[in-house]
Amino acid sequence: MPSPLVRRLVPADAAALRQLRLDALVETPESFGSSYEEEHTLTLEDIRAWIAPVDDGAMFGVFDGEALAGIVGVARQRKLKTRHKAHIWSMYVAPAQRGRGLARLLMQAAIAHAGAMRGIRYVQLSVTSNNAAATALYAGLGFAEYGCEREALCVNGRFYDETLMSLALPGQ
Ligand SMILES: CC(C)(COP(=O)(O)OP(=O)(O)OC[C@H]1O[C@@H](n2cnc3c(N)ncnc32)[C@H](O)[C@@H]1OP(=O)(O)O)[C@@H](O)C(=O)NCCC(=O)NCCS
Repeated sequence: MPSPLVRRLVPADAAALRQLRLDALVETPESFGSSYEEEHTLTLEDIRAWIAPVDDGAMFGVFDGEALAGIVGVARQRKLKTRHKAHIWSMYVAPAQRGRGLARLLMQAAIAHAGAMRGIRYVQLSVTSNNAAATALYAGLGFAEYGCEREALCVNGRFYDETLMSLALPGQ
C-alpha cells in the first residue's frame, strides 16, 4: 500500500474538505464545538477562507490516493494578548481509514506548522472527555491536560465535559 500523503490544503480542495467536515459533524457531533446545522449552508467560498485564512493558520489533509481521508486545522488566537497561542481544530479521520496512523501524521504536520508560526509558544486543544481515542492520540504527542470544562457541550440534550490540553513548543 503506498504511503499516505499529508499536505497543506489548497483552495482546489474546498469541495472535498466541505464534504469531509460535514461527514464529521454528522458522525460524531459530540466531538466538535460546531454543528452540521450551522455549517451545511457554508459555501465553497466560506470553506476556501478556512484553507487560506487571513493570518498564518493552515489546514492539512491526508490523502488515500486522490481521496481526502482526514483533516486538521491549526489557527492562531486573534487577540493581541493571546497571539502566542495556537489551537487545533477539526481533527477527523474517515472511519474506514482509522487505525493507520493518519491522525498522528496530521497532528505532526499541524504541530510543525505551529512551530513555524512566529512567536507561537503553546498549541492548545479541547477534547470531549469521553473520547479515549483522541485523548490518547494527543497525549502520545506530548499534550498535557491543564483543565476540564464541565458540561462544555450540549448535544441533543446531553451534556459533555471537555478536557483542555496544551503542548509547549520548544525554543520559542
Ligand atoms: C480520534 C481519531 C482522529 C484518530 O484517528 P486515527 O487515524 O484512527 O488515529 P491513528 O491511527 O493516527 O492513531 C494514533 C494514536 O491515537 C490513539 N488511538 C487512535 N485510535 C484509538 C482507539 N480506537 N483507541 C485508543 N486509542 C486510539 C492511539 O494512541 C494511537 O497510537 P497507537 O496506534 O500507537 O496506539 C479518529 O478516531 C476520529 O476521527 N474520530 C472521530 C472524530 C474525533 O474524535 N476527532 C477528535 C476531536 S478532538
